[in-house]
Amino acid sequence: MTGGGDCPGLNAVLNAVVKSALRYGYQIYGIENGFNGLVNDNMKLLTFQDVSGILPRGGTVLGTTNRDNPFKFAHEHEDGTITYTDERETVVRNLARRGIEALIVIGGDGSLAIGSQLARECGVKVVGVPKTIDNDLPCTERTFGFDTAVAMATEALDRLHTTAESHHRVMLLEVMGRYAGWIALHSGVAGGADVILIPEIPYHMDAIINKIHERQRQGKMFSIIVVAEGSKPEGGEMTVARMVKASFDPIRLGGVGFKLADQIEQATGIESRCTVLGYLQRGGSPTAFDRVLCTRYGVAAVEACIQGNYDVMVALRNDSIVQVPLEEAGSKPRSVPLDSEIIKAARYIGISFGDEV
Ligand code: F6P
Repeated sequence: MTGGGDCPGLNAVLNAVVKSALRYGYQIYGIENGFNGLVNDNMKLLTFQDVSGILPRGGTVLGTTNRDNPFKFAHEHEDGTITYTDERETVVRNLARRGIEALIVIGGDGSLAIGSQLARECGVKVVGVPKTIDNDLPCTERTFGFDTAVAMATEALDRLHTTAESHHRVMLLEVMGRYAGWIALHSGVAGGADVILIPEIPYHMDAIINKIHERQRQGKMFSIIVVAEGSKPEGGEMTVARMVKASFDPIRLGGVGFKLADQIEQATGIESRCTVLGYLQRGGSPTAFDRVLCTRYGVAAVEACIQGNYDVMVALRNDSIVQVPLEEAGSKPRSVPLDSEIIKAARYIGISFGDEV
């Protein structure tokens, strides 16, 4: 099952899971559209042909949704109201009817938390695979999809440099990441940003303006700022774009980059523009690194089932794939540590995090 937002590498994991499981003589069902398919009994047996050629493809051939939770299954009515039912028994029944012995959940914190609840409260045997461009899952050094999102954001920064330099502008790139600044931090360093703003380090407008002026004094008449969608000013709040009521986590962030561009233009008189990279970070083909990681994760998930090790998530630690307790994996998001060696390196080369005035 693939659950939550789509992410580069979902198909690469499916490819590895199905091919390795078939080699061991198992039957594999693909569940359509995440937990929705589990509740509505939309699943199909997958063959070698179903996964042949999907390794480099973006998205998921199974479909996905980041709305459905069997413990609080939303029913949207015509008048806009939403009612909820508990569908845990439906899920258990649907799995049992087909003789499904184990459930591999390829998902982020929401899907893994639901998987963990199914394991704890309903006795379903679950193995998790850590997916998300945000890289914000605990217990693993890498989620798949992150490397591709960073590559995309880095390319965007390279392109924005051209306009920034030619027009003597401040160019901002707003990237995703929810409450964590991993994408902004890595792409900002890789793309030579002058300022990187992340949720973990609230920013001061003065510090950003000082950095832009410092660059002007050095003869650099443009600046590049990467801003994570969850960034917030010291003492202020994150910018919420919309609420998706039926979703596991209803808050959708977005818009901080436009606000900042206006404020910077007003304070400096320098033309400032914001580009929101959005879903381009999640779409398309995974990088070679992600394809390899996805293949390792997919095979490791099947191995965990064969070993009878359930209620675990496969994870990357010191470049080895290990198994960690699923309950911990679906818990609190993993933020960028403030003593991160990458933050230190970035500061050494003069990148501002908007905190030092
Ligand atoms: O978790 C992945 C992610 O792309 C976040 O970076 C972003 O905040 C969110 O999903 C957007 O969700 P939606 O697809 O519902 O707009």
